[in-house]
Amino acid sequence: MSLQPNAGSQGELAGLLAIRGYHYSRGEEQRNVCLIPASAHGTNAASAVLAGMKVVVVATAADGTIDHEDLYAKIEANKDALSAIMITYPSTHGVYDADVTEICEAVHAAGGQVYVDGANLNALVGLAQPGKFGGDVSHLNLHKTFCIPHGGGGPGVGPVAAKAHLAPFMPGDANKAAHQDGHGVAISASNFGSAGVLPISWAYVKLMGGEGLTEATKAALLAANYVAVRLNEYFPVLYTGEGGLVAHECILDLRELTAKTGVTAEDVAKRLIDFGFHAPTLAFPVAGTLMVEPTESEDLAEIDRFIEAMITIRKEIDQVANGDFTVADSPLRRAPHTAAAVVSSDWDRAYPREQAAFPAHHKQDKYFPPVGRIDGAAGDRNLICSCPPLSEFED
Ligand SMILES: Cc1ncc(COP(=O)(O)O)c(C=O)c1O
Repeated sequence: MSLQPNAGSQGELAGLLAIRGYHYSRGEEQRNVCLIPASAHGTNAASAVLAGMKVVVVATAADGTIDHEDLYAKIEANKDALSAIMITYPSTHGVYDADVTEICEAVHAAGGQVYVDGANLNALVGLAQPGKFGGDVSHLNLHKTFCIPHGGGGPGVGPVAAKAHLAPFMPGDANKAAHQDGHGVAISASNFGSAGVLPISWAYVKLMGGEGLTEATKAALLAANYVAVRLNEYFPVLYTGEGGLVAHECILDLRELTAKTGVTAEDVAKRLIDFGFHAPTLAFPVAGTLMVEPTESEDLAEIDRFIEAMITIRKEIDQVANGDFTVADSPLRRAPHTAAAVVSSDWDRAYPREQAAFPAHHKQDKYFPPVGRIDGAAGDRNLICSCPPLSEFED
């Protein structure tokens, strides 16, 4: 295991470089194809390209799992050049590919290695071991599963763990040059990566213990399934696995509602801010959907508060469908509502101020966002420096 990577994506790169080094050491330089399911996180493909590999995308089946026919056809078509497959388990579609072991075996039989993207390890800890179902190398996102604060810009920690045959090709010493044949490259500038934050994960593991960590995994799975079951009649859950269950997250499909009413997943995401919620993942891995991952950290009251907010939002979508107001004039499209907008003397909206600011029954702990709706795409495309000019600093 190497603690060098400062993010999950850096762990992916380190792991793929180890796979590349392994193939090279066996005189199989031609093995440069990396199979990546369409459901994978964007970093997977980026890491493969950085590691000098050619990405071949594997299709998704109707139930959200890896499409077998396509997978086996692509293994066959690339068998002499197959370097690796990157599997996210459970996948970003929120389902366990029940036949993951066979998938790993098929890739191994064709001479490839298996990279298990461990970002969703919070759905496995204590219940399954990637090395046993066929993974050769994997990264763990400590900032997701092991309590390193997530969001806000890091630093993250993405240690990479490999089986013994890949050990010689793991990240090299940050203080020494790489070997002449290219392996042993350090992946970050320090041998222990973001060592300063590691005591957080250490303390978490020590305090939870093995049983506590397993309970946390079960709580994460239970919470996701609870959300999926309670919200399914309002926002259909896109993919479910065996027994109609999801893994640690569920995708709420808004596409039909959008087609009928014009209300988008983004409108729902923005409206949730008025309820005091940070929006779930929007438009990934499927455009027009929201992916909800409650994790093990929220108690039942908070999860219920979220569910009630989503049901209230669904009622507002129905108000649009019934013609109570147009989408453009709805509290959804005009969300989020700032304090300034709500107290303004010229309130001219099609819905009451109370509905704007206090859509939920609970009026305590109200969060007011500092800004209303912005044009996110325009903001992404145009770099605008908001720093005051130097002249502002003159006395
Ligand atoms: C499935 C998956 N893989 C990889 C990553 C990349 O991790 P990081 O953001 O730490 O680079 C993420 C992050 O969200 C992820 O969800």
